[in-house]
Amino acid sequence: MLFKQQALLRQKLFVLGSLAIGSLLYLVARVGSLDRLQPLCPIDSRFGPRGQDEIPLRALQFKRGLLHEFRKGNATKEQIRLHNLVQQLPKAIIIGVRKGGTRALLEMLNLHPAVVKASQEIHFFDNDENYAKGIEWYRKKMPFSYPHQITIEKSPAYFITEEVPERIYKMNSSIKFFFFFWEPTTRAISDYTQVLFFFFFKNKTYYKFEKLAIDPNTCEVNTKYKAVRTSIYTKHLERWLKYFPIEQFHIVDGDRLITEPLPELQLVEKFLNLLFFFFLYNLYFNATRGFYCLFFFFFFNKCLAGSKGRIHPEVDTSVITKLRKFFHPFNQKFYQITGRTFKWP
Ligand code: A3P
Repeated sequence: MLFKQQALLRQKLFVLGSLAIGSLLYLVARVGSLDRLQPLCPIDSRFGPRGQDEIPLRALQFKRGLLHEFRKGNATKEQIRLHNLVQQLPKAIIIGVRKGGTRALLEMLNLHPAVVKASQEIHFFDNDENYAKGIEWYRKKMPFSYPHQITIEKSPAYFITEEVPERIYKMNSSIKFFFFFWEPTTRAISDYTQVLFFFFFKNKTYYKFEKLAIDPNTCEVNTKYKAVRTSIYTKHLERWLKYFPIEQFHIVDGDRLITEPLPELQLVEKFLNLLFFFFLYNLYFNATRGFYCLFFFFFFNKCLAGSKGRIHPEVDTSVITKLRKFFHPFNQKFYQITGRTFKWP
């Protein structure tokens, strides 16, 4: 009797479980098909009231379809007026640090319906020639967006360029910044690798990292080498803090963005006061690339281009030790200033 009841219970559980899984699959399929059906509707009715409550999927559709068209320069003035699109100055800038993971953050953030990225590095504030063209020139370099959306730019050279903080302050003293930090020695090697590949593609030879990073006369760390200078984060950060309070900076842990990107992205959403959206994305580890890529239901899959995530050349361990020792006191100061501690050696 007891055995019969148990079998009946198991049967009921099986039916209920199947129903639940079936409904879930139906919902997923329905969301996908809704998105695919959207282009048949007139564009305005697709987006409904403009504001933070915009449906992410619809906004994505907008960003990938309409905005892409506009970026390619196909938009007429009439279309721009009709859709109330504007080119806005950035509300947040990814200022560095070079090779910290800045492209990964920009690309991931751009998936958020409330964020629109400037696709190229504009180099407005660090390049005197561009800066002389004026703020309107800069604004015209920005992508089209809805007024409620946030435009984000990234130019990692900003972080290390002397004049930049003052120039940005003159544009907007309450702007938000993203700083990326990666363990300084690894970052320096990554920086070197980028240049090495540049030479490699031009069929040219280049110095070994060891030769550049260590001064042959003193056998000490060569602070004139740019890849080393850039990794002395405090030196640059102190210059920025003369203009902006630390609260306006969000520090992104470059190491964690590689190993555990979702929590880092959620911190970024919080900093920008955005609706939580990234939980919808499935950040999956792509073993071939060796990095996390983005997967969204059945119709979106994105990894960064091959120029990111290159294999670094092997570097003499004694040079690595020397560099780590050199960066150590600067790192301690960096932890003090930012109130964040990283597990850098
Ligand atoms: P490497 O190419 O040296 O591995 P930036 O965009 O600032 O130039 O930074 C490039 C670095 O971003 C890469 O350095 C890589 O380690 C890191 N990165 C972080 N997340 C990544 C991702 N999801 N895909 C590829 N690279 C990523």
